[in-house]
Amino acid sequence: MANQRDVIIACDFKCADETIQFLDRLTRIRDEVISCDNYRIGTGRPFVKIGMELFYAEGPEMIKLLKKRGHKIFLDLKLHDIPNTVKKSMQVIGGYGVDMVNVHAAGGVRMMQAAKEGLMLGAARFADKPKLIAVTQLTSTDEETLHKELLIDRPMNEVVRQYALNAREAGLDGVVCSAFEAAEIHEVCGADFLTVTPGIRFVENTNDDQKRVMTPAQAKLAGSDYIVVGRPITAADRPIDAYTRCKEEFL
Ligand code: C5P
Repeated sequence: MANQRDVIIACDFKCADETIQFLDRLTRIRDEVISCDNYRIGTGRPFVKIGMELFYAEGPEMIKLLKKRGHKIFLDLKLHDIPNTVKKSMQVIGGYGVDMVNVHAAGGVRMMQAAKEGLMLGAARFADKPKLIAVTQLTSTDEETLHKELLIDRPMNEVVRQYALNAREAGLDGVVCSAFEAAEIHEVCGADFLTVTPGIRFVENTNDDQKRVMTPAQAKLAGSDYIVVGRPITAADRPIDAYTRCKEEFL
């Protein structure tokens, strides 16, 4: 079965007020837009990503608030600790009812298996189980950091491929990676293994701090299953236009 594909908005805001203000603006305008026949973006509330900054500021209440408003949620906390601690923490996270959550693949296969066990225990009462994905290498880690600081002497693409294989062996659903790596990861891990790809920009955008970027249309061709888009939507003059354009290019 083909993977579900979607655009995930990275809500990198400081607090709940800022986040809700942004989403209110987006959905209010969007509801009007949806009533026009020529838009094909569906009726669901946008899939959103909550990262560490917002979660540490607002805690689980933030998740309840967004769930109540009907958003799907990717909780991007990138857990990395000993297997027992990760399992217990994931059990708590599973109880939140989020749709996607992640760990660092650098924690190894046992840690990822423990994460999955904990998450499934925590999410036992939900019919739709959350997806568990792994960060292969941070996009802020370059070859030089890999070799000189982390003392990993293999090339980056080999490391990413092996970490993705480890994640699959541990029973995870996919990885966070660059869209440039999506095709190779599908090749080695299978077409149904999810690739969730940040680093998305429209042709006219600046790259900000992202090094290797693709447009939503290019990410589609590259085989990304989900694109994670922050500033091109959140900092746009008209976020709804940017979100709609992402959906139309990618889906
Ligand atoms: O604003 P921008 O589109 O660059 O946001 C991308 C989002 O994806 C941010 O929330 C960032 O933390 C996240 N991310 C990333 N690279 C990774 C993992 C996550 O850019 N490797």
